[in-house]
Amino acid sequence: MSISVRPMAGAAVFSALLLSTTSAFAASGYDADSKIFRLDGGDVTYAFGISPQGYLQAVYWGGRLAGGDKLGPLVALRDHSSVDMSASITPQEFPGQGGGIFVEPALKVAWPDGSRDVVLKYASHSIGRDRIDVVLQDIGRPLRVTLHYTIDPDTGIVGRSATIENRDKDVVRLDQVQSASYTLPTGNDYQLHYLTGRWAAEWTLQKRPVTEGSTVIESRRGSTGHQSNPWFAINRAQDAQEESGAVWFGALAWSGSWRMTVDRDQIGKVRVVGGYNPFDFAYRLKPSEKLETPVFYAGYSAQGMGGASRLMHRFQRNEILPRHDGELKLRPVLYNSWEATEFKVDEAGQMELAEKAASLGVERFVMDDGWFGKRNSDKAGLGDWTPNPEKFPNGLKPLIDKVQGLGMEFGLWVEPEMTNPDSDLYRAHPDWVINFPGRPRSEGRNQLMLNLARRDVRDHVFKVLDELVSKNEIKFLKWDYNRNWSEPGWPEAGEDQQRIYVDYVDNLYWIIAELRRRHPGLEIETCSGGGGRVDLGILALTDQAWPSDNTDPFDRLTIQDGFSHAYAPAVMMDWVTDSPNWVNRRQTSLEYRFLSAMQGGLGIGANLNHWKDEDFATAKKMVAEYKTIRNTVQQGELYRLISPQDNSPRAATLSVSPDRRQAVLFAFLHSSTKLEPFPAIGLRGLDPAKLYRLRRIGGAAAEAGANPDVASGRFWMERGVQADLRGDFQAAGYVLEAAE
Ligand code: GLA
Repeated sequence: MSISVRPMAGAAVFSALLLSTTSAFAASGYDADSKIFRLDGGDVTYAFGISPQGYLQAVYWGGRLAGGDKLGPLVALRDHSSVDMSASITPQEFPGQGGGIFVEPALKVAWPDGSRDVVLKYASHSIGRDRIDVVLQDIGRPLRVTLHYTIDPDTGIVGRSATIENRDKDVVRLDQVQSASYTLPTGNDYQLHYLTGRWAAEWTLQKRPVTEGSTVIESRRGSTGHQSNPWFAINRAQDAQEESGAVWFGALAWSGSWRMTVDRDQIGKVRVVGGYNPFDFAYRLKPSEKLETPVFYAGYSAQGMGGASRLMHRFQRNEILPRHDGELKLRPVLYNSWEATEFKVDEAGQMELAEKAASLGVERFVMDDGWFGKRNSDKAGLGDWTPNPEKFPNGLKPLIDKVQGLGMEFGLWVEPEMTNPDSDLYRAHPDWVINFPGRPRSEGRNQLMLNLARRDVRDHVFKVLDELVSKNEIKFLKWDYNRNWSEPGWPEAGEDQQRIYVDYVDNLYWIIAELRRRHPGLEIETCSGGGGRVDLGILALTDQAWPSDNTDPFDRLTIQDGFSHAYAPAVMMDWVTDSPNWVNRRQTSLEYRFLSAMQGGLGIGANLNHWKDEDFATAKKMVAEYKTIRNTVQQGELYRLISPQDNSPRAATLSVSPDRRQAVLFAFLHSSTKLEPFPAIGLRGLDPAKLYRLRRIGGAAAEAGANPDVASGRFWMERGVQADLRGDFQAAGYVLEAAE
């Protein structure tokens, strides 16, 4: 773990940092002379200080500095003009809405007497092993904000959150609470990258210049959302490259309504402020109550967008994702029949598919929607989590026994936060859903949302799942969530009902955490009508994520590319489905579909009853190949060599194992024209001095003679791999193994 430097008197405080500027060493400290706090981790330094007026002010965030480098003391900022007073142009770490600021506040409050002025100044601090806590205090009222800072020694990723504490005798209403405000170095050529989407089209990479005026990315939907993801990256136009140039990036660990505001102010300061979405937000903080925000993580890389995402992936693997016995487990190859059978699941049909799946080398068999209650379509049954007696007359046991007998784990689809009006649960508890009394209850996919913020509902949902998992040998849950909020009322909570935005998500996290605690072997996938709930909050509790219901293998290349900017291939599930695929009615070869799906955790979602012998033979070979490379693909370092974005006809990714002994290359061609050759693909991240043997996944090299069998890492990086791809929807996969 990290080593931290405890505060010492005077200028000596940072001297320990002089000893090491290497990675995997973190330090936190405070220099009382200059009043500067400093966090160092990985290749990053993050510093902030106390201004002469007592504000906590951003000082530096970027590449790691030498221990002795002076960052303070800060000078008092003078008013820029009569209309831009010093308070507003001071890049505060956590600005309160008051004292004449016009920038995006981190905290906005309404006092009982109607005043709305909050001015936060430094009060005290404490420095822990790998964290700094700074207490801010309003200049007049007993409101306290504790800012929490951590830094990851390996990646230099900073975590920031805040605890707001009401020390008054009256209730204080919080109207806006952000986790952190991050300030970038002064610059005038910043570009913002972010991810947007819709159902079946998640993870679309967007880019726009950061100019005066705000860009707001957000979800007002009660959950993370398909439309925007709580991740950003900002680079500089002048040196923006995939593998070089400075990138500042971050992600919020929150699965409820969220917001990030990226703003360049009138004096050129760029800030990223993120936290709870203030839309419809109000949190009445009672005397002595506290509200702790989600963590807003942020990092820096000098190695371009590629370096930024590799840091994110590593951070997620090492610090965020759940571990089993201390290990981050590899994703098993799974089979799921959703696209094949939809709601028409039954014991005999699932058993037949299970036999076929097992013959391919599948390790986990997952039964999707349709197994419970009166669930024959999406019109009924949600909430009634007992097996449908016609489809499973003897319960789930015979199927689970069969699946286990075939050497696979059994997994099950659930959507625990929902109910259909046509369900026994809703008939018994119509008051359990989110609603405003006397108002229509808008349905999405014929379903309503259970109000998890209610303790009784939370406990019911937990009990149902706990029993399901206790009574059956269920090793995996695909946890779905197929609609967004409407009429976000919680009538029983009266004037506190807007707490639903916080309490719902906290209780969701509680249920999953408790379930995992009671069933340590259980794995969970986060799914939300595809990729509508992927964020660092839910990923701390789930083992894998479903990026999109769009399983078209060509569309998936951009979806997976977008996903990989923010989240690790370690959690990214990709299925091989039928051709023509339902999305674009496109025909692709089984090999192409496999290679597209092998970029993450491999699944098969095709109707195996329609497969021919040769399909089984190809699939069996590809599954076996995948098992030899999945370690590298899932937990290695990802290089996006040729971007599929902007309608590129070509795409290529490379994954390199941490010990650099194996590398896996995937190359894709949408369509060729006019004998245009596929460009040589220069690899990255190999050991230049090692010899690597090249082989093509799935068999003989079509490009006989184009590549040597064995060559140095330097050769593969400088001269590259020559893929002879021509035609429509062509793909090639290669493995490079270090030759002894
Ligand atoms: C959502 C999921 C799908 C499938 C269906 C079942 O759309 O994203 O994968 O599970 O629900 O109803």
